[in-house]
Amino acid sequence: MIYVLGSINLDTSLEVERIPKKGETLIADGCSMGLGGKGANQAVAIAKLGAPQNKMLVQMIGCVGKDATGSELVNTLEGFGVGTSNVRKVNRATGSAMVMVTPKDNRIIVYGGANSGITKTDIDEALCKATSADTLLCQLEVPLYVVAYALRKARSLGMTTILNPAPAKALPDDLFYSVDVIIPNEVETQELTGIVPRDPDSIRDAVDKFHERGVQYVVLTLGERGIALSDGNRIFEQLPAYKVAAVDTTGAGDTFVGAFALTYPHIGMYSFKEACAFANRAASIAVTRRGASESIPSAEEVNAMYVKEIKK
Ligand code: RIB
Repeated sequence: MIYVLGSINLDTSLEVERIPKKGETLIADGCSMGLGGKGANQAVAIAKLGAPQNKMLVQMIGCVGKDATGSELVNTLEGFGVGTSNVRKVNRATGSAMVMVTPKDNRIIVYGGANSGITKTDIDEALCKATSADTLLCQLEVPLYVVAYALRKARSLGMTTILNPAPAKALPDDLFYSVDVIIPNEVETQELTGIVPRDPDSIRDAVDKFHERGVQYVVLTLGERGIALSDGNRIFEQLPAYKVAAVDTTGAGDTFVGAFALTYPHIGMYSFKEACAFANRAASIAVTRRGASESIPSAEEVNAMYVKEIKK
């Protein structure tokens, strides 16, 4: 089982030509609403990409409000095959995000709301049956002290722990000792290491900083510069980014992280690299579609892309 501790948001996406200037009102070309939140997106990626195995693979741990939006988002998660018995309803408004999507990139503002209602007791209850065969995946859109507690607890149970440190924020040193795999993007890498990963030397230095802080596996998602990965033996590789016609990058990072968590095996560099390659393909499909959780491809689509690649 993969347990995903994280946020569940209602995303409102506005398609705009460009980001508005100070004091300017801009008319959007399109508007849509859907399930988002880094935690929910990653859980949906695991469910969608793992569906051929035809069993419950992923349990969401989080909170929504006691409002209609909260119930709708829980139903949507279930519709994707995500277990929601550890999603609690609290007396706060369901989390929401305003996403401005331009032809080049996006800007996101998140209101945490119910997401901040999660407690250590929720973690104890959710992980009461977890074993060393299970994985815990976290991001940083729920309170940091709960994330730290969950990672420590998962580590004490011998679970695999994966941290996507998004959105970027400073983290206490001891948190890294409970993390097996860290998956930051460029901004998060800079926040956590003080290094801008823009060339081979700076990328290697940033990766080494994470190893020095106690993380064995490091995966940097570097946008157009692709993926940099390193295992505890400092084997270092880079996977190129796919050149695709991107329409919306919202949730692409979450697709990568969820796909990685699904396929990440517990042994060896070869398998680690394969998990990254699978995740890289999945994310490259997600950016060609609009929305967050809706843009995540199925395993068949990712495998079809792989088949095309090897036939070239
Ligand atoms: O990573 C994309 C997600 O960030 C969006 O779905 C939004 O809800 C914010 O959490």
